[in-house]
Amino acid sequence: MPSTTLTQSLERDDAIAPRPGRRVFVKSFGCQMNVYDSQRMADVAAAEGYEETAQVEDADLVILNTCHIRERASEKIFTELGKLRELKDERAQSGRATTLVVAGCVAQAEGGEIIRRQPAVDLVVGPQSYHRLPDLLRRAENGKARIDTEFPLEDKFLHLPASSPAAIRARGPSAFVTVQEGCDKFCSFCVVPYTRGAEVSRPLSQIVEEIARLVASGVGEVTLIGQNVNAYHGRDAAGRDVDLAGLLAAAAALPGVLRLRYATSHPNDMSDSLIAAHRDIGALAPYLHLPIQSGSDRILAAMNRKHSARDYLDIVARARRARPDIALSSDFIVGFPDESDADFAATLALVREVGYATGYAFKYSPRPGTPAAELDDPVDEAVKTVRLAELLALLEAQRLAFGQSLVGRRLEVLFDKSGRRPGQIVGRSPYMQSVYAEGGADRIGAMCSVEIIRAGANSLTGRIVATSSRETGAKL
Ligand code: 5AD
Ligand code: SF4
Repeated sequence: MPSTTLTQSLERDDAIAPRPGRRVFVKSFGCQMNVYDSQRMADVAAAEGYEETAQVEDADLVILNTCHIRERASEKIFTELGKLRELKDERAQSGRATTLVVAGCVAQAEGGEIIRRQPAVDLVVGPQSYHRLPDLLRRAENGKARIDTEFPLEDKFLHLPASSPAAIRARGPSAFVTVQEGCDKFCSFCVVPYTRGAEVSRPLSQIVEEIARLVASGVGEVTLIGQNVNAYHGRDAAGRDVDLAGLLAAAAALPGVLRLRYATSHPNDMSDSLIAAHRDIGALAPYLHLPIQSGSDRILAAMNRKHSARDYLDIVARARRARPDIALSSDFIVGFPDESDADFAATLALVREVGYATGYAFKYSPRPGTPAAELDDPVDEAVKTVRLAELLALLEAQRLAFGQSLVGRRLEVLFDKSGRRPGQIVGRSPYMQSVYAEGGADRIGAMCSVEIIRAGANSLTGRIVATSSRETGAKL
């Protein structure tokens, strides 16, 4: 999207002058959606003349892109803001102004409360209003409205400036693309339907264009992201419905797309076509992040997940039939209100039955406004802590065992950066593990076939045996 579209979207007298020499620092918390949004906010700032910096001390504009999913994630933001207030004061003493912006899900959920708790904040902006940032910044500078947490009707993606080729190259050969936002599932513990709103999918043509632009600037791997990505529904040029499987097929057909991923999925939207995509689309990584949250049907019902543990296991079996080398990961919540020893044992049993490549476990955190926050919870905090440790230990053991099962196998690795040692490069396996190998920087951006020779707890080591013929058009 050319930046003129952005300017057109502003009222003429609200347009702001370019700011040569100014710098922006964006810090992202939480999920991949926020990483993507942070990049798009950096693009908006770039269109306004701000150069991106990794040094917060140098920044005239600081944007915190926040996460509200668990209480601890939320509270982190206020600690961070306290430090930024000191920095703002220090910079002011040497005559440099700093504009402090809070974006993301805490902004959406807490709005004006943020400015009351931390008056150094200049602007609070929700995830649906990032395209309005230039306008909002000017208004904040003039002491006008400092909060925008609306869900505007216009499509923000149409108004966001495109990432420049230089920005794309700087971000490396693996990119995220948001394809849908929001969620209609209303799991009883989750704030997402409130902070991100109803499920909305981006038009297919808009997404395909964005991927084509990324690939033209050297991106080889694209992860399609959304809070409930497998609920994706768009239309093709002929007006036919397209689901996530259709979108993946359209993306895979673009020359230069070496590997595709998608996250995060809900079990109830694992359609036959999506499972078949794992069999039919060569570029689709044999990896499925499919959160179940609990292995107990009683807790799944209380969570409003609308499926049983058996339904989930059936999906896993179908996915494995379609793509025998597929590996799974999941999210789990321990200590949901009233979770009994038997409920927790059912979670451990499910983890053992599936055998995960990796997994993420969180202690339940009551979120204001969600139905689960109203439930009585007789479970002792110490019991929850023990359960979390036990589940994490099991997942860790499975992660190590999975890594070791790959020793001797050849995996497709997309190298994305230099290693710590000279002559060493680092990339990602199809299963998201870091893979270290000896190789020149000219391989960064290329997909290589790598024989795995060692597996540690957090990474694999391998030997490059071939550089894939499906190389990126423009190397990074
Ligand atoms: N408490 C703990 N974990 C949560 N998650 C979402 N909401 C909560 C909550 N209130 C976890 C889920 C989800 C992941 C992104 O965060 O496991 O899949
Ligand atoms: Fe939250 Fe459930 Fe929607 Fe995932 S599917 S974003 S956990 S409400």
